Amino acid sequence: MTHTSESNLTALAGDDFLPGPVLLLGAPGVGKGTQAQLLVTKYGIPQISTGDLLRGNIARGSELGLKAKEIMSSGHLVDDEIVNQMVLHRLQEKDTHRGYILDGYPRTLEQAKYLDLTIAGPIFLPRLPVLAVSIVVPYDQLLERITGRRICSTCKHIYNMFSNAPKVVGVCDFDGASLMQRGDDTEAVFVERMKTFEAQTAPVVAHYHDLGRFEEADGNQSVEAVNIAIEQAIIKLRGATRR
Ligand code: AP5
Repeated sequence: MTHTSESNLTALAGDDFLPGPVLLLGAPGVGKGTQAQLLVTKYGIPQISTGDLLRGNIARGSELGLKAKEIMSSGHLVDDEIVNQMVLHRLQEKDTHRGYILDGYPRTLEQAKYLDLTIAGPIFLPRLPVLAVSIVVPYDQLLERITGRRICSTCKHIYNMFSNAPKVVGVCDFDGASLMQRGDDTEAVFVERMKTFEAQTAPVVAHYHDLGRFEEADGNQSVEAVNIAIEQAIIKLRGATRR
C-alpha cells in the first residue's frame, strides 16, 4: 500500500465519507483499540469492543460478568451465544445508524456467520456490507505491547510504558485519572490468548478474505502510519463494495 497524507485521504474520500460498519481484526495487542479510538474521533461513529463490554459486566458484577471473568483470565473465549446477544443488544442503540467500529468481534466463525446473516445487513442501519481490516504485527512485538499497556480508568485512553508512556507514571495526560493494567495482560495469559487467536480467530480473517471484503494493514509502524493504512483500506473497500 502506498503512503498517503491525511489531507490526501480526505480528498480521496470526500469530507462527508462515512466508513459504515467496519471490523478491526487481529491478534491480542496489534492495536485494534488504539486504532478504533482514532476512527471514532475522525468519523463520529462508535467503537464497540466486546472486550470492553465484557469488562464492564465484570466491573458491575452482573451475571454475565460472573460467567465471563474466569474465562477471560484464562485467555479463552466467552461463549458465542453470550457475545452475539451482547453485540445484538448494543447495535440497537441509535448511535450505530451511521456506522460503527467493531473491535474484537467476530472472533469465531460462528460469530462471523451470526454477524453477516443475522445482525449486520438484515436488521441494522446502515445497510452496507461489513468490511474487515486485519492489523498484522510480528509475534515478538506483541508481548511488549501487552505487558506495557496501561489504560486510563476514566477516559480509557491507551498508553504503553515502552512506546507511548504518559508524562507522569500512572497518571492520564488528559484527565489526571489513574492508569490501570488489565488482569489478562500477563505473559502467561498472553500465550494462551495467542493460541486461542490462532485456533479460533485466524479462520475469521480467512473468511472475510474469501468474501473479498478484506484488507490487511501493517501494524508494525507508528500509530499514525497504521491509522492512515487503515483509512486507505476502508476507502478502497468501501469504493469496491458501494452499490
Ligand atoms: P479484548 O479486550 O478484545 O482483547 P484482545 O483482542 O486480546 O486485544 P487487546 O485489547 O489486548 O489489544 P488491541 O489489539 O486492542 O491493542 P491496543 O490498541 O490496546 O478481549 C479480551 C478477552 O475478552 C478475550 O481474551 C476473551 O476472553 C474475551 N472476548 C472479547 N471479545 C470476545 C468475543 N468476540 N468472543 C469471545 N470472547 C471475547 O494496543 C496494545 C498496546 O500496544 C497498547 O499499550 C498500545 O499503546 C500499544 N500500541 C498500539 N499501537 C501501537 C503502535 N503502532 N506502535 C507501538 N505500540 C502500539
